[in-house]
Amino acid sequence: MTLNYEVWATLYDKVYGDVVDDIPYYVNQITGPDHAVLELGCGTGRVSIPIAEVTSKLTALDLSGQMINVLKQKAVLGGLILDCVIADMRYFELDVKFDLIIIPFRGFQSLLLKGDQEKCLAAINKHLKEDGKVIVDMFFPSLEMFDQDNRVFYEVKRISGEDPRTSTLVKHRSSFDMHSQLIETTLLVESSKADLVTETRYLDFTLRYIHPKEAEYLFLNNGFITRNIVNNFTNSIENQSSEMIFELEKKCDY
Ligand SMILES: C[S@@+](CC[C@H](N)C(=O)[O-])C[C@H]1O[C@@H](n2cnc3c(N)ncnc32)[C@H](O)[C@@H]1O
Repeated sequence: MTLNYEVWATLYDKVYGDVVDDIPYYVNQITGPDHAVLELGCGTGRVSIPIAEVTSKLTALDLSGQMINVLKQKAVLGGLILDCVIADMRYFELDVKFDLIIIPFRGFQSLLLKGDQEKCLAAINKHLKEDGKVIVDMFFPSLEMFDQDNRVFYEVKRISGEDPRTSTLVKHRSSFDMHSQLIETTLLVESSKADLVTETRYLDFTLRYIHPKEAEYLFLNNGFITRNIVNNFTNSIENQSSEMIFELEKKCDY
């Protein structure tokens, strides 16, 4: 399923603007205003904007010009300095090396083939300082997640608008291919005003799920040691984590 970026860029903040749990975690990684950071798959800047508030050396990269345009508007409004790059995270070429390279909120899972993941990791390796750090966030493929009926739209959340009469209902329907480890999802986004539905939009996208040990081997085989896996941005030991955040370093002999 190909993502319609025209629709996605206009809906993204409406649907995911309330996701904020991960932001302090990323901001706390920045050690000073000269910390050189690269965000791959930056989208509309949900994470980039708070990072740009603490370092002037952020490069935000995304495949979609529409997503980058939204980010640029926010940066201008906030008077923030950052470099925006429209590029593919598998093939980018920048003449800078970074202290920190991050792929927040499951962006790495947009890469659907092992070969794509490997190309991305090679590009990261090339752009990372020797003592640099990489952070990759992915969702944990839980049993509960697979236990879904692919004909049913499940409610994800209802978000209240600034005008208390408005709200946005988000539902999703997913089907799984266990061999290719692909999840095809249709998101349904329904806007309402005074209990009347004013707009319904559908958005299709595909992600690749990855098991934790598989991810560790993928990183190891492509030049990175997993130093830590953080659960749900709290480093808790809870089993039912939804997010697994891999903190990676360059493997010395690679
Ligand atoms: C789930 S969004 C995450 C956006 C943002 N980082 C956040 O945390 O809200 C994933 C982003 O990855 C981008 N993306 C997908 N495939 C990409 C690729 N091959 N190269 C660069 N960006 C890509 C999409 O355009 C989208 O903006």
